[in-house]
Amino acid sequence: MKVALGSDHGGYSLKVEIIKHLESKNIEFKDFGTYTEESCDYPDYAEKVAVEVSNKNYDFGILICGTGIGISISANKVPGIRAALCHDTFSAHATREHNDANILAMGERVVGPGLAIDIVDTFLNSQFEGDRHARRVNKITEIEKKYCK
Ligand code: RB5
Repeated sequence: MKVALGSDHGGYSLKVEIIKHLESKNIEFKDFGTYTEESCDYPDYAEKVAVEVSNKNYDFGILICGTGIGISISANKVPGIRAALCHDTFSAHATREHNDANILAMGERVVGPGLAIDIVDTFLNSQFEGDRHARRVNKITEIEKKYCK
């Protein structure tokens, strides 16, 4: 499994904790920035990670900003991306099982590192259930095709 990571300054510290965790689990990843706590713009990092995931260079993305909101909204503008903002483990497995989410977004100012790491593990270890959920995900793709020129 290959994971693409990104954050703005507001998510930088939590991203560092997640990187340590992925290293401890021998999960392959690349950090697409930001690399310091200097103020920056979350859409820049959302786009880098979302394009990598959309192009299937990585299986999943993890994006973190202060709230997780701006970075998830930005990632969802890239065709093929289903970025889910999750601050609990129920949402983390449900969005994999039902929405086939390919990016997990979180907010460093919302969730502590212990819970965030549980959310990451839950997201990465859950499987899409297909069946009726596939029909619904296909409808998301149809909306995307209709409106994203
Ligand atoms: C940065 O201050 C903050 O606005 C950003 O990290 C994020 O919370 C936006 O949605």
